[in-house]
Amino acid sequence: MSFDLPFRFRRLRKNKTIRDLISRVELTANDFVYPIFVEEGLEGRAESDSLPGVFRVGETALAAEINMLWEKGIKAVMLFGVSHHKDEEGSDTWDEEGLIARMIRIVKDQAPDMVIMADACFCQYTTHGHCGVLINDHVDNDLTLENLQKQAINAAEAGADFIAPSAMMDGQVMAIRDALDEAGFEDVGVLSYSSKFASDLYGPFRGAAGCSLKQGDRKAYQADYRHYELALEESMVDIEEGADMLMVKPGTLYLDVLKGIRENTSLPVAAYHVSGEYAMIKHAALAGALDEKKVVLETMVAFKRAGADLVITYYAPQILDWLKD
Ligand code: PBG
Ligand code: ZN
Repeated sequence: MSFDLPFRFRRLRKNKTIRDLISRVELTANDFVYPIFVEEGLEGRAESDSLPGVFRVGETALAAEINMLWEKGIKAVMLFGVSHHKDEEGSDTWDEEGLIARMIRIVKDQAPDMVIMADACFCQYTTHGHCGVLINDHVDNDLTLENLQKQAINAAEAGADFIAPSAMMDGQVMAIRDALDEAGFEDVGVLSYSSKFASDLYGPFRGAAGCSLKQGDRKAYQADYRHYELALEESMVDIEEGADMLMVKPGTLYLDVLKGIRENTSLPVAAYHVSGEYAMIKHAALAGALDEKKVVLETMVAFKRAGADLVITYYAPQILDWLKD
């Protein structure tokens, strides 16, 4: 006997061929951006204590690293400097011979077609660890904008394809867009960290990048995760300011925001699978609690299903290997 059901979904899942035929999300090498930590003065590579499997790369080892990644199929990288030349304002970031300029030039020389996203912030370059100019324990918005403009031009001159401001200053997209246009870099884009939350999932990054705060937190500039509408609004304002691409960061806990942005713009949207999200999967896998490959791929599909065009993840090279199997 059989029941008279309104629909039998299992017909669409009967075997792998049917499932694959109707699937709407496919992961490819074109979906991923790989964040790289480049440490000043380091010889070779050094594994991060806070992010097992992620290596800080010295400048002399960077060309070989980029070559290996390009061969593997990585098409875009996000560069993070680990600086040993810090000062109050992070002036190394706008120095033509500073770490940002040097690492971008190395990547551009080695792989001219690799897309370079230059993270634009100050926390890795300031002695206090805040993302801008500190005045009486408060990060001054507009003074920081001026420094972001200098940093953006420096990165563009060195060869960056996109400037990715992550400082969460108001007006950072507009300030950078203006500065780039004025300097003749109309074709350098802005990938805005448009909905970046004050998240504790950045902890392992701060260890790896050497940018832990001496005191305080970043809640006065990064978005409050208790507010969906404001996070969406902030991304919409970045569009008005001239952003070419938007971003939600972290990813997994903020799929609602990702979907909200997706439904309100046709511009490309990136999800940043941040250090803490990487660490949660990695440590659980090392403890034998879950299947790393399956959980990572499920997570990446979730980002794409929610509307991401790009995923920035420390798992990118590993994912490309898995996709080849
Ligand atoms: C710098 C920056 C951070 C991350 C990316 N850019 C740290 C922060 O804002 O505290 C975090 C990335 C990660 O956790 O993987 N502003
Ligand atoms: Zn910062």
